[in-house]
Amino acid sequence: MNGPVRAGDTVRLVARVAALSLHRPRRPDRRWDDFWRGVSQGSLAEPIIWDAAGAGHDETRSHLRAMADLMDTSLPMVDLGCGNGAISRQLTGLFPSVLGVDVSPEAVASARSAHARVPGLSFRSLDATRPAAAAGLAHEIGDANVFVRGVFHVLSRRRQASLAGSVEALLGARGRIYLVETNVPGGALSYLRSLGATGDRIPGPLRQAISALPKPGHFGARQRSRVFPASRWTLVAEGSTFLATVPMEPGGPPGNVPAYWAVLGRRPPGGSARP
Ligand SMILES: C[S@@+](CC[C@H](N)C(=O)[O-])C[C@H]1O[C@@H](n2cnc3c(N)ncnc32)[C@H](O)[C@@H]1O
Repeated sequence: MNGPVRAGDTVRLVARVAALSLHRPRRPDRRWDDFWRGVSQGSLAEPIIWDAAGAGHDETRSHLRAMADLMDTSLPMVDLGCGNGAISRQLTGLFPSVLGVDVSPEAVASARSAHARVPGLSFRSLDATRPAAAAGLAHEIGDANVFVRGVFHVLSRRRQASLAGSVEALLGARGRIYLVETNVPGGALSYLRSLGATGDRIPGPLRQAISALPKPGHFGARQRSRVFPASRWTLVAEGSTFLATVPMEPGGPPGNVPAYWAVLGRRPPGGSARP
């Protein structure tokens, strides 16, 4: 595209995104429950954009390998923000029990019905940005590991800190958190363009996400060190990765969004910041 054509396309793309965003529900937790209700009732019929890391997918395999190396796999695993539970189910291959937790009762209902009777797997609706609720859960299950995929980057700074407080309560002395979050360089427009959006057309899964979900942000090493300060947390490992997306067009190849992963544990009082 030459300069003026590109500028015209950008104006049209911005206008399209603004029009789609107008219909977003206001309260963040209602957004998620409305989204999952729309998915289960069929009014949101496009594939869920991040829902590509199910059984045998390269992304999930690489998480499981790193978890086997870096986490105590005798502990239970809590999948915070589990959505439809597809990845929670994969985690049962490595951990003795897996609890998928989601703020959306609709998500939990569909996870339960999709993964009924999987040994060691259960689901619960809970707002993971309420550390008191997480402390209650920690009291019930004892020290646990935590998995978070694609949740920090959609929360405000205040709620990110609250989510870290919940994680702290769940890990106890022995657990670790494994997080993977999208971390796309550049602004929102380059993110949209990398997934095939133009001023004339936004691919269906992306269009659905823009109209129904909170706007995603960046979450990389800088954000991690703010949310998990070295005074309280030990960084075990971190790196760049890709978060798998569904194909943007029917029959097309799956996509990949640049992402960040890290494993952390609570820092013991008087301990060092690295293991
Ligand atoms: C982008 S989706 C990722 C779902 C799942 N982790 C995956 O990768 O397939 C984010 C999920 O986090 C859930 N979520 C958002 N805020 C939450 C909160 N405060 N407590 C628990 N779950 C939350 C949403 O309902 C949604 O299912």
